[in-house]
Amino acid sequence: MSKKTSIENQIESLREEIRKHDHSYYVLDKPLIADREYDKLYKDLQKLESENPEFFSANSPTQRVAGQPKEGFSKLEHRIPMLSLQNSYDKNDISEFYKRLKKFLQTEEDVELFCELKFDGLAMELVYENSSLHAAITRGDGIIGEDVLANMKTLKQIPLQLNQKDIPVFEARGEVVMEKSAFLELNNYQEEEGLNTFANPRNAAAGSIRQLDPRVTASRKLSMFCYATGVVEGINFESQSELPKLFNDLGLKAMQVGDFKSFYKDLNQFTEKTEAQKKKLIEKWKNQLSFVCKNDEEAIQYYEIIQNIRHELNFDIDGIVIKTNSIALQEELGFIARSPRWASSAKFEPEQAETIIEKIQIQVGRTGALTPVAIMKPVIVGGVTVSNATLHNQDEIDRKDVRVNDSVIIQRAGDVIPEVVKVLKDKRPKDSVPFLLPENCPVCDTPAKKDEGEAVLRCPNPACQARVQENLKHFVSRKAMNIDKLGDKIIEQLIDSGLVSKFSDIYKLESEKLLQLERQGKKSVDNLLSSIEKSKKTELGRFIYSLGIRFVGEQTAKSLAQNFGSMEALLSASEDELMAIDDIGPKVAQSVIEAIHQDNFVSEVRELISVGIQFKEIKEKSSEKFAGLTFVITGTLSVPRNQIKSFIEDNGGKVTGSVSKKTSYLVLGEDAGSKLAKATELGVPSLSWDELQNLQ
Ligand code: IVH
Repeated sequence: MSKKTSIENQIESLREEIRKHDHSYYVLDKPLIADREYDKLYKDLQKLESENPEFFSANSPTQRVAGQPKEGFSKLEHRIPMLSLQNSYDKNDISEFYKRLKKFLQTEEDVELFCELKFDGLAMELVYENSSLHAAITRGDGIIGEDVLANMKTLKQIPLQLNQKDIPVFEARGEVVMEKSAFLELNNYQEEEGLNTFANPRNAAAGSIRQLDPRVTASRKLSMFCYATGVVEGINFESQSELPKLFNDLGLKAMQVGDFKSFYKDLNQFTEKTEAQKKKLIEKWKNQLSFVCKNDEEAIQYYEIIQNIRHELNFDIDGIVIKTNSIALQEELGFIARSPRWASSAKFEPEQAETIIEKIQIQVGRTGALTPVAIMKPVIVGGVTVSNATLHNQDEIDRKDVRVNDSVIIQRAGDVIPEVVKVLKDKRPKDSVPFLLPENCPVCDTPAKKDEGEAVLRCPNPACQARVQENLKHFVSRKAMNIDKLGDKIIEQLIDSGLVSKFSDIYKLESEKLLQLERQGKKSVDNLLSSIEKSKKTELGRFIYSLGIRFVGEQTAKSLAQNFGSMEALLSASEDELMAIDDIGPKVAQSVIEAIHQDNFVSEVRELISVGIQFKEIKEKSSEKFAGLTFVITGTLSVPRNQIKSFIEDNGGKVTGSVSKKTSYLVLGEDAGSKLAKATELGVPSLSWDELQNLQ
């Protein structure tokens, strides 16, 4: 075997192996190897591919990398329209639907039904041609959707090529969802970054896919459950219940089919089980919640069980979908208007509960925001005990007219975040008075302020004990200085005992004083001090993030670090310099300026550096020869795009996703399409990879 072929084989077998692990991890939920081993395979492949660019393949797992933002989505037509379903909210309608089926089919016999979950996300079509992912189209109006291929490719769970070779056309349809845990994590992040939070997982999934910047999509944890097909050539199936396994075999994720009798036996008494039993049962069934039911009676049993267990699932569903199992019968039944006669959905009402607001507490956040929180008589909503709900701000309180001692209806937004839906005014006590947020901070008594155009009241006192405490918690948190032994309880102890009132005090703690604190022994104090010591070696971006400047989240802090290179440079930044950075707008720039003009802030930063905080080096740019130039890369190139992109960026240039008047050069590979046409039309010059490397 020649050297070349053996390298090619090595590359191909690494790709195969990584695909197998992506499938086991993201589709089957069963990782076969440790993350570290996976990373090693990935790095080996990256290295081999960059050393041997002649074996580049657009289907390689390394090609999921997110490209540059787009200016908008182009529209694509579905070859077969994506229709909607007849909806109902009543389980008795299931029998009505079943009667209609039998009547249309003129049969007295049972008609087999395929029952599955109605996923609450964003409907999507993946088009595979010759087994390669060719397009990803949102449902849109059912006829025409948006081309979101670049974004969908960043989901590791989506195979770039099907497991079975040479399938001429395979269109998989399904729902992109964000798991509840990922949704909560995302909202925390958004809040920290001063970005908008999402009301529920469905909006978060849709917002993540309809993102002009694929890098953002790549950072969101999304999955797609397949449940239907569009055009299929080269594969035959006769029933709906064959589809889940087919999807799985091809590398796509789908809820699998279980045995209805055992499911019913296990779960029909679900609400009476203990928490531990419930957990075990969900664990057992969570990947096989689709069933073949023999008639409407079983379909109704399915509906009732799913309604009981829905809140235990880690993704949102809003009902069930019932389809005739036989594809031949589906064809016979056909369509009425825009929905199939062979399918129907039965939805669940969002679960709500009634309770009483016992008091309204004011929480003081890290940035001083005063947030009113309703403390309620505990009540179970959607299987979870809820006892508080944020009331956001005074405007929201006024809009809903929420008062202490009111009886209210609450629900969990997206089944997750508790919210007050409405006040039951006829149950309101006679002596009730409207609730007003206090004029002063409830912790330090400083008069609260409202920024222009904002609904939130803030405590402006940076020394407010509540703010100090929240800031310290942020400073030590995992994504900040990462002092893991300094938990919330110890922070509270340290503040109460007067040992710590600002960040730098943490680095001056001594074991003698710490040993005097309650519950602190020699071993825990040693651990604490060594985790503090370890945190001193950090990255500039983390450090900037730790300082808790308003609107400066993790990402913004990273870009500040990259652009300024040192803390001193950042401390003397001007508003114009800040605004010149890509991701920074006026709101963030002003907030940074405000911070660096505060004597306390500056002296605290200097103090932290003098107690020993050090930054690891940031990579220098190779040159600035492409400064001010914008490049677009297109066509099939001999080296991975990433490598070209890094080369341009290391030399001070910028890479964007689409050709415009501002584009300086088009870096051109083979088979370039519309971008080349656009560049020619606008007179943008083209370069090959070789020419780019020689460009001075
Ligand atoms: S089948 C022709 N199955 O519900 C029928 N749809 O109201 C095609 N949906 O836009 C749809 N889970 O987004 C089907 N298991 C499931 C589903 C499902 C969620 C959504 C889908 C569609 C809407 C129709």
